[in-house]
Amino acid sequence: MNSLTHGIGILGLGSALPEKVLTNFDLEKMVDTSDEWIIKRTGISERRILERETPAYVLGVEAAKKAIDDAGLKPEEIDLIIVTTSCPDYLSPSISCIIQKEIKAKNSAAFDLNAACSGFIYGLTTAQQFISTGYYKNVLVVACEGLSKIVDWEDRNTCILFGDGAGAVVLGAVEKEYGIIDTELGADGSMGHFITIPCCHLSNEDKEKRLHENKMVLWMDGTEVFKFAVNIMAQAVEKVLEKCNITLDDVQLIIPHQANIRIIDGASKKMGILFEKVYSNVHKYGNISSASIPVALEEAWKSGRISKGDNIVLVGFGGGLTWASALVKWNR
Ligand code: COA
Repeated sequence: MNSLTHGIGILGLGSALPEKVLTNFDLEKMVDTSDEWIIKRTGISERRILERETPAYVLGVEAAKKAIDDAGLKPEEIDLIIVTTSCPDYLSPSISCIIQKEIKAKNSAAFDLNAACSGFIYGLTTAQQFISTGYYKNVLVVACEGLSKIVDWEDRNTCILFGDGAGAVVLGAVEKEYGIIDTELGADGSMGHFITIPCCHLSNEDKEKRLHENKMVLWMDGTEVFKFAVNIMAQAVEKVLEKCNITLDDVQLIIPHQANIRIIDGASKKMGILFEKVYSNVHKYGNISSASIPVALEEAWKSGRISKGDNIVLVGFGGGLTWASALVKWNR
């Protein structure tokens, strides 16, 4: 909670998804799997995939432009760009610097933030802190993910789960008592080995776990991550509500990270909430890591699921392992 004369909230939203659709039936031709298995175990029917030669930042650029436009701002009015990603096209320049150049946000600082699938809420929290101290006025948070580039397309345990996409928001001053009410961030590095994506170093353990010659790919212990995700999603929601002194009855919509419908379902049961109160689009896009929450948020907003004054809980979990939740009182 803060003592500002205004709230800090979302001024504009945007998203971008590749045109190319990869269905479960396409995957049947690539690995030993079936549409039936994937739907039953994950709820995913299809995902969007970038063309091999297209960098992921193009999605971030498109989402960023839409969010700035939606906020009624000019790119020069953005003070800071934070890009959340677990698969940057380059380590240098950062995706945030590439996006800064492409959208001509010439007055902004820029850095990347990696908190895996929790990244968007980590990014929101960081932006909120910069604004609440008065250091910056308008901060652009872009969640930009090209997971198809770091997935092993011969590993059926992982390749069925992920997709590409980007979501962006501009944060700035809104009416008092609206916007981001509070957030909760967490990490437990002792479980980090359950999801790994090597980049500049490959240990013997990393080599042994991976199937083929290209070892710089994502590996995951799905069962361990599943158990972690169901528990942490429920705990993270509970914690942020406790901080804000409200209950689930006061919440109109929960927008969780879209990893697997069974995780969302399991956590909803744990919290004792009706599935109707939880937004999901995982069937269309699969897991797009940090981009999944802003893409779902924009979709929920555009389809009329959110009204001004609604209490919305965002909740994410993922590599690190990390988790994060936020309570947002919708200001639009
Ligand atoms: N198609 C068909 N069979 C598959 C398969 C696929 N794509 N992937 C795995 N299997 C097989 C396994 O090899 C195993 O076979 P076995 O019993 O002969 O060994 C069987 O299906 C069951 O595997 P299991 O791992 O127990 O399945 P599951 O119900 O746990 O589902 C995941 C697997 C990956 C879908 C699930 O664990 C999961 O979603 N975990 C969380 C992943 C996630 O969301 N990570 C990102 C978090 S940000």
